[in-house]
Amino acid sequence: MYSLIRPLLFSFNPETAHHITLDALQFVYRLGLLPLFVKHPVDNPHKVMGLTFPNSVGLAAGLDKNGDYIDALAALGFGFIEIGTVTPRAQEGNPKPRLFRLPEAQGIINRMGFNNHGVDALIENVKRANYRGILGINIGKNFDTPIEHAAADYLIGLRRVYTHASYVAINISSPNTKNLRQLQGSDELDALLTQLKAEQEKLADLHGKYVPLALKIAPDLDSEQIRQIATLLQRHRIDGVIATNTTLTRTGVEHLAQQTETGGLSGAPLRDRSTAVIRELATVLQGSLPIIGVGGILSGKDAAEKIHAGAALIQIYSGLIYRGPELINECVKAIGNSQRS
Ligand SMILES: Cc1cc2nc3c(=O)[nH]c(=O)nc-3n(C[C@H](O)[C@H](O)[C@H](O)COP(=O)(O)O)c2cc1C
Repeated sequence: MYSLIRPLLFSFNPETAHHITLDALQFVYRLGLLPLFVKHPVDNPHKVMGLTFPNSVGLAAGLDKNGDYIDALAALGFGFIEIGTVTPRAQEGNPKPRLFRLPEAQGIINRMGFNNHGVDALIENVKRANYRGILGINIGKNFDTPIEHAAADYLIGLRRVYTHASYVAINISSPNTKNLRQLQGSDELDALLTQLKAEQEKLADLHGKYVPLALKIAPDLDSEQIRQIATLLQRHRIDGVIATNTTLTRTGVEHLAQQTETGGLSGAPLRDRSTAVIRELATVLQGSLPIIGVGGILSGKDAAEKIHAGAALIQIYSGLIYRGPELINECVKAIGNSQRS
């Protein structure tokens, strides 16, 4: 079905196509017609970070930045949905165009820059949604908050979303907010995680509810950096790690005109790099905390490969653009089969 409408969607510029697709999905969902088009995957429940996931295939952050489409997206059969990245205050993001397809490589380059309506608007959307499944809320910092004060933005985000989220994702790995990735440095990360862990414990006492924290990291890290981050995650008792965000490298797409666009590359060209980071993390972590694997999953085989590399759950974004919602079911099945074999 999706393969029939994809040429039409690809005739629009990518950001317009994004809005058309999500609005159409919402429309069909509200008419109650979505079950005619999508087959719900068979449940394959997993307990991760103390939460029970009905299946291990989630929606990655950035597709529904404001939580406008939670119910419609959940109806596609995801085991969990991650919304955001949301910042304390609303911001426009980078000037358009800022989203580019690389169809020959099944890749996407984006430099969106955390365009979002702010955390309060997101919470209103979460309250309005009927979805009662696993909801991750991904938080970031405003572009104009100096990097030295980044922790203040993450603390605002954490406090505001805490009671509304099943888990909170801490995004320090977007390449499109100046200097953000500096927060992955040992000293900066140590300081940030100290404050976030203390706040999580305070909020858990206050609300009588423990909400796990997951750190989202970049694929552009060397082995030493991966080892340092993994050690800090363990030391600060962070509940999970999401690997990975988009890459600044252009390996595999050097020959394509769009590769000169500034921004993070996702989709198929990211797959092996992201899997390598997962594998290295898994080696250091030895199961002490779960890995959510994301990056370049365009088939069930890719999903199973992430699980084999050490991921407990997976997420998809670019694969949805190239393959449509059928990919969800295909990944759930492939993971189930690979776990049985
Ligand atoms: C257009 C676009 C916007 C994104 N926005 C965010 C974001 O706001 N926060 C975030 O943590 N990741 C964001 N991502 C990264 C994805 O969540 C994911 O980590 C990355 O794209 C790799 O997965 P994929 O190859 O399946 O797309 C974005 C990705 C794309 C393509």
